Amino acid sequence: MHDTVAIDPARLQALLQRERAHFGRHHPRSVALSAQAQQHYVFGVPLHWMRDWPTPASLFVQHARGADLTCVDGHGYADFCLGDTGAMFGHSPEPVAAAVAEQAYRGLTCMLPDERSAQVGQWLAERFGLPRWQLAMTTSDANRFVIRWARAITARPYLVVFDGCYHGAVDDTLVDRDPQQRGGSVRRPSVLGQVHAHHAYTRVVPFNDLEALQDALADGQVAAVLAEPALTNFGLVPPQPGFWDAAQALCQRHGTLLVLDETHTLSTGVGGWARAHGLTPDVWVAGKAVAGGVPCAVYGCTDGSMSFRVESNTVTGASPARTGWPAGA
Ligand SMILES: Cc1ncc(COP(=O)(O)O)c(C=O)c1O
Repeated sequence: MHDTVAIDPARLQALLQRERAHFGRHHPRSVALSAQAQQHYVFGVPLHWMRDWPTPASLFVQHARGADLTCVDGHGYADFCLGDTGAMFGHSPEPVAAAVAEQAYRGLTCMLPDERSAQVGQWLAERFGLPRWQLAMTTSDANRFVIRWARAITARPYLVVFDGCYHGAVDDTLVDRDPQQRGGSVRRPSVLGQVHAHHAYTRVVPFNDLEALQDALADGQVAAVLAEPALTNFGLVPPQPGFWDAAQALCQRHGTLLVLDETHTLSTGVGGWARAHGLTPDVWVAGKAVAGGVPCAVYGCTDGSMSFRVESNTVTGASPARTGWPAGA
């Protein structure tokens, strides 16, 4: 038996008070800006999760560069948050800052491609090994679009995700595993204001559990498995050796698309986790750091997976040879 050591709550409170007072004394400008912002922002910040910090007032940023951040009171910090990975490759890398500044003078939104778009498409194909690409503003958007494409192409309703997943603000994926029903899902309690049963077409299986994955795919009703190659939003859960090879084989056997969300695992190396480990998903998604902190996401796919026509709201011609989807699905 181990001895248990009780933590004195009164002592904890005293420590917290001391730290809060220390923050206030040393961050007068942040405290003043917090009070000002409180008047017109919900929770006192432009985006509500900016209050997900323990400081008594928000820390207002003066500037950030590389891995360093300086607050408006002039204190320097080593930034271990890096914009929740949006700045994973450093704040404002010089080439990104220069490109953004240049584009700002060339027109910021035209609803048309420009002369560099074709080159970017080629770079995406070369870097990530998939031939066809689309861009979106956020990974949440990209995942939403991919889920729709997958359902349209396969004419199947279900999505499979792994327990503990996070793929952004995508209702279908804001689900937990139903402990009462193998493969079933329950809504995450954090999803507010949703009147639809947004979990109804999502199956949730434990990561690394091939038997559960096989069961979830067996009825041929699953359009796509959407997954991070290693879970990064649930602690860090690496795949067991051989898991992905077997999981991909299951997807192929059951005609289900494998969609990898590499928003975080992009940092594995040039080309992301899939490239480093020789995995060939049908669809590949990344956002955040992919554009050096500029809001942008990309999704790429095999030639087969997006080759179909939409006529009068009917999808025809999807017969990706690699995944063996039913002809005419
Ligand atoms: C794996 C993964 N996918 C998607 C997202 C959502 O990204 P975005 O905020 O660009 O929508 C996140 C955010 O942390 C993520 O970790």
